[in-house]
Amino acid sequence: MKNSIIKTQLLCKSFITDGEINNIIKNVDLDIYEGDFTVIMGSSGSGKSTLLYSLSGMDQVTTGKVFFDKEDITTMKEKDISKLRKNKLGFVFQGINLIPNLNVYENIVSPTYKTQFTRKAVEERVTYLMNKLELDTHKHKFPNQMSGGQRQKVAICRALINEPKILFADEPTGSLNSSQGESVLDIFTTIHTEGQSIVMVTHDLKAALRGNRILYIKDGRIDGELTLMEYNTDDLVQREEIVYKFLKSKGW
Ligand SMILES: Nc1ncnc2c1ncn2[C@@H]1O[C@H](COP(=O)(O)OP(=O)(O)O)[C@@H](O)[C@H]1O
Ligand SMILES: [Mg+2]
Repeated sequence: MKNSIIKTQLLCKSFITDGEINNIIKNVDLDIYEGDFTVIMGSSGSGKSTLLYSLSGMDQVTTGKVFFDKEDITTMKEKDISKLRKNKLGFVFQGINLIPNLNVYENIVSPTYKTQFTRKAVEERVTYLMNKLELDTHKHKFPNQMSGGQRQKVAICRALINEPKILFADEPTGSLNSSQGESVLDIFTTIHTEGQSIVMVTHDLKAALRGNRILYIKDGRIDGELTLMEYNTDDLVQREEIVYKFLKSKGW
């Protein structure tokens, strides 16, 4: 039995635009399991990003509940949510938002201030991550001196520096060319294999293949899900067929 790391109950999120209420996420009951690489798919505007932000406490829900590790985050004080975000959650976004006047190293360690991690632990972790993502030689570069793929790797290192219990990624390959995208996805596959829980929004089939559970969202509701074996390059063709069929059946 897998452990539920996030649980939602009747989660709703609405926006008010020009005096009109738009219900974007509608009564979503969902469990995200520890150790899973969960992928959220759906057409543009279906509510993928909105759901991700609600799940991760980045954005306040309108009604309903979100539990993280059995703790209700919808009633948590802002101060405690910030703490939770900083200590337990990692985020990677499509528009890579590095701090322009900090170098690679400084960007990666920026979330570690005022955490329980010692300098030595941070130093070891940053060395490990930069090595793993092949960023060692770029340590002193600034974001504008690097390619989009390299910047995304820096953003991933930064998201992982505090050893988050779960990593959230919104279209992490969206602004990358296909080989850069593949290398970012390889990193996700590796860390997932090592036990990292991941929730990734994507509209890219190749990216979705990496997950072991695909949720399909349509018009603000979970319209179906597909459970897959762990990612294995040997049966990629078959895997792609299964996912493609599933998505087509959902009207993708
Ligand atoms: N901050 C916001 N204010 C108003 N409407 C929003 C806001 N964020 C998202 N929406 C609306 O919610 C819908 C779903 O958006 P989003 O979750 O970004 O979709 P997706 O990520 O699936 O493309 C869209 O119609 C979008 O215009
Ligand atoms: Mg989106």
